Amino acid sequence: MFNRRDQKLYAEDVPLELIAAEVGTPCYVYSRAGIEQRWRAYDSAFADHPHHICYAVKANSNLSVLRLLAQLGSGFDIVSVGELERVLRAGGDAHSVVFSGVAKRADEMRRALTVGIRCFDVESLAELARLGAVAEELGVQAPVAIRVNPDVDAATHPYIATGLTEAKFGIAMNQALAAYMQAAGMPGISITGVASHIGSQILSMDPFLDAVGRLLELVGDLAAADIPVTHLDLGGGLGIRYRDELPPDINEYVSGLVEAVGQSGRRLSITLEPGRSIVGEAGVLLTRVEYLKSNARKNFAVVDAGMNDLLRPALYDAWQDIVSIRGGGGADARCYDVVGPVCETGDILGTERLLAIEQGDVLAVMGAGAYGWVMSSNYNSRPRPPEVLVDGDRYVVVRRRETIEELWGPESMPWSK
Ligand code: LLP
Repeated sequence: MFNRRDQKLYAEDVPLELIAAEVGTPCYVYSRAGIEQRWRAYDSAFADHPHHICYAVKANSNLSVLRLLAQLGSGFDIVSVGELERVLRAGGDAHSVVFSGVAKRADEMRRALTVGIRCFDVESLAELARLGAVAEELGVQAPVAIRVNPDVDAATHPYIATGLTEAKFGIAMNQALAAYMQAAGMPGISITGVASHIGSQILSMDPFLDAVGRLLELVGDLAAADIPVTHLDLGGGLGIRYRDELPPDINEYVSGLVEAVGQSGRRLSITLEPGRSIVGEAGVLLTRVEYLKSNARKNFAVVDAGMNDLLRPALYDAWQDIVSIRGGGGADARCYDVVGPVCETGDILGTERLLAIEQGDVLAVMGAGAYGWVMSSNYNSRPRPPEVLVDGDRYVVVRRRETIEELWGPESMPWSK
């Protein structure tokens, strides 16, 4: 994936120096092999247990990434009609799509029902009522799993912990049975499963197993109420190593889930919605050092990528490794805050990084394949960066850099004299 040769950092067999010189910076670079290897790790860990791997499109929705995954046979987890259209555009199979999200609009439901998605993960009674009505209007039945909120603590950043009662997600466990009974009586709804997603960047098996236990109890209650389900959607959330985290590996994670479901003695297929653990480590953000400057307390490396290009450090105080792509260092290294061009003090990519760098050097922010480009914005009227996909010794620009004109393309100037 990313490796060093003669100190220089490569993406597969392509020197990142070459991409920085030819495509410019800032720029996202993804490794095809890295993405495919992780998807396959999921698939093979399931062995013959019936399963659906529905890649969470929100993590990285570049069409080329979706296309690679579709070609491997992946399904997709979407949260908007925009993501649905991306999946279809990339050649993904509509029947492999699960639709999550707390605020599905009627038009989004209509489109998803028309193309025939696999399942709606319903997050409230009000949504259930709307979905039932839209499906009836179209003369179809909507396949539904109710997303329950199992109230487990995923021990992750509060902004990305979704399985607690404080969060807006899902239907509370103690209201779930009643919701299913209501759904069972609705002509526009066909119940197929039970869903949950407890958070992201989760680093131990405990919260996952805790959630599975609670979901299996619900499945038992449903069976007793004569509401059979055929699949469990356990969401995404497996963490990756940004610094010194030690998450379970994909095989350990999947085997743990399969075993827990197996022990229940129920024949349930398992759906997973992994995002970060498939693409996160397969991407970097390249950024060039514009200036070095120091004051009495700090050394700053002012780089050409900012919080508008990579929001995670500013928004979550997330730590992502920052390295020089030409390597070297040792004795020359100094401690820098790596900061961007955006006019906000919080525009920081990393603090207190030991780097041996000069003006003009290119740095790579590691672990930027997930929730990187997709969370970028045009703040400070900065065109969003290009995305590059590497495959062996070749690379392709899979999204070009935006132009300045595109920044105001959708705008108009009324009342001008
Ligand atoms: N399924 C659902 C319903 C989700 O809400 C999410 C992520 C996933 C699957 C995929 O989770 P993953 O496997 O990627 O952990 N922007 C944040 C992460 C937000 C995650 C939101 N939901 C970050 O940069 O850390």
